[in-house]
Formats: sequence, C-alpha cells, structure tokens
Amino acid sequence: MILKDAEATEAAGRILAPYIGPGDVVALSGDLGVGKTCFVRGVLAGLGFDGEAPSPSYALVIPYAPPSVRIPVCHVDLYRLKTSEEAEELGLDDALADSALLIEWPERLGDRLWWEALKIRLDDVGPKGRRLTVSVPPSWEARCPFL
Ligand SMILES: Nc1ncnc2c1ncn2[C@@H]1O[C@H](COP(=O)(O)OP(=O)(O)OP(=O)(O)O)[C@@H](O)[C@H]1O
Ligand SMILES: [Mg+2]
Repeated sequence: MILKDAEATEAAGRILAPYIGPGDVVALSGDLGVGKTCFVRGVLAGLGFDGEAPSPSYALVIPYAPPSVRIPVCHVDLYRLKTSEEAEELGLDDALADSALLIEWPERLGDRLWWEALKIRLDDVGPKGRRLTVSVPPSWEARCPFL
C-alpha cells in the first residue's frame, strides 16, 4: 500500500484504530523520520484522542487512558533503549493486561517482541511517499484492514 503524504499515513492509522483492543501489540518499523509517529497519531485520533500527541522519544512510554481514548493504550518509542533487558523495566508486559501497545523501533526488543504483534513497516519510496507493508500473525488474520 502506498501512502502519498503525511495525511495518508495518519489516515492509515485511523483505519486501523477500530480493530485494536487491549492486549494487542502493533509494531512499527522503518528508518528514522519515515512516519511511524505520524501513523500512531492517526491511531490515537481514531481511538478518540483529540489533541497533538507528543512523540515518546524521551519518555519512551506515553500512556493514554479513557475517557480521552476508547481503550487504554501506550505509545512506546524504543529508539533510545540500549539493551533488550532494559525493556523489562518499562513494564510493557503489565501494561498489556489492560492496554494496547503501539511500539516504534520494536527491533530494539530483539526476540522479546511479542510474536502475535501486528508488524507494520514503512519505507521511503521517494516522491511517491511511503510504502506500508504488513506482516500479519494469526490473531490478526480475520481483522487486519490492510489485507
Ligand atoms: N506518506 C508520507 N509521505 C511523505 N512524508 C511523510 C509521509 N508520512 C509521514 N511523512 C513525514 O515524515 C516525517 C517524519 O515523521 P515521523 O516523525 O512520524 O517519523 P518517525 O518514523 O516517527 O521518526 P523517528 O524514527 O524519529 O521516530 C514528517 O515530517 C511527516 O510529515
Ligand atoms: Mg517517531
């Protein structure tokens, strides 16, 4: 799927939002500045968040809770994570009990990334914008809107 500009990336996030529930992990890969945060802002908007969601580059985890969003959700950016062990301290496993996780730089988790994660990859394709590629685990097969 080709996303021609930032609005299209955000719109793709909005399209995914209704299918996300507590316990779901959406992993967003792609180079620096490719549009991962932009996609997450679309998801958050689709979940009802009305505002400019900051990038979690420094906080690493930014939680959102109802009523500003339909379900609890954590926006996570692991770019600054040095080792996958450090991830334990973020408490993502606990958060997953009642929240969805939207994770930028999921490769920082190595093999700690949940295997049931919906994997979305964004690639810069020059003047055409970005290409979105999905890798769909069994639990998403019946509901992924990008298939
Ligand atoms: N489909 C698109 N076509 C062209 N530009 C886009 C597209 N989607 C997003 N962008 C632009 O990409 C830029 C970077 O976006 P964003 O901050 O979301 O990237 P990121 O992947 O989160 O970066 P980082 O790795 O630093 O977290 C923004 O200026 C945004 O407007
Ligand atoms: Mg980002």
